[in-house]
Amino acid sequence: MPTLAVYPGSFDPLTNGHVDIIMRGARLFDRIVIAILVNAEKSPLFSMDERVEIARAVFKDLPNVEVDTFDGLLVDYVERRHAQVIVRGLRAVSDFEFEFQMALMNRRLNGKIETVFMMPAEQYTYISSRLIKEVFSLGGRVHGLVPDMVEERLQAKVGASGEDPRKK
Ligand SMILES: Nc1ncnc2c1ncn2[C@@H]1O[C@H](COP(=O)(O)OP(=O)(O)OP(=O)(O)O)[C@@H](O)[C@H]1O
Ligand SMILES: [Mg+2]
Repeated sequence: MPTLAVYPGSFDPLTNGHVDIIMRGARLFDRIVIAILVNAEKSPLFSMDERVEIARAVFKDLPNVEVDTFDGLLVDYVERRHAQVIVRGLRAVSDFEFEFQMALMNRRLNGKIETVFMMPAEQYTYISSRLIKEVFSLGGRVHGLVPDMVEERLQAKVGASGEDPRKK
């Protein structure tokens, strides 16, 4: 049976750390679904549609990478998709405690689903969506840390607001 993996997250926005994990997953599993969590945050910077559009564009040449959205319990979504694996990325020890809790809770909720952790390349181990948004909004360079399309969209948001928040 082909192995289907689900990589859940908010991806607000997609970073090169996420991309690294997805590429690894795409090599390891028959198919990997980037599952974007609806309403993870009350005021996301990127709308759901934008996040889907970006992920689809970035992985357009990888036929075994799919982009979908979900809400509610992750294990219910995974079951609905007939997937066997949840993929999560581990950056540092600081991720461990939360990820450990989630993996064991998900196992309790559905013992058939296995959580697999993957480490990104070292140069991405300190990146998070939150940090990217923070650094960019303060005028810092995020080039090389996010896909080019994300960088362009971040610039466009600055332009669209009329005022450059980086100049405040
Ligand atoms: N740079 C990275 N390297 C490896 N894994 C990562 C990286 N960034 C996020 N992940 C993992 O990707 C999954 C989805 O995470 P999430 O959507 O919360 O991204 P995030 O960058 O942590 O965003 P936020 O800062 O909003 O929490 C989680 O398993 C998280 O540990
Ligand atoms: Mg996170």
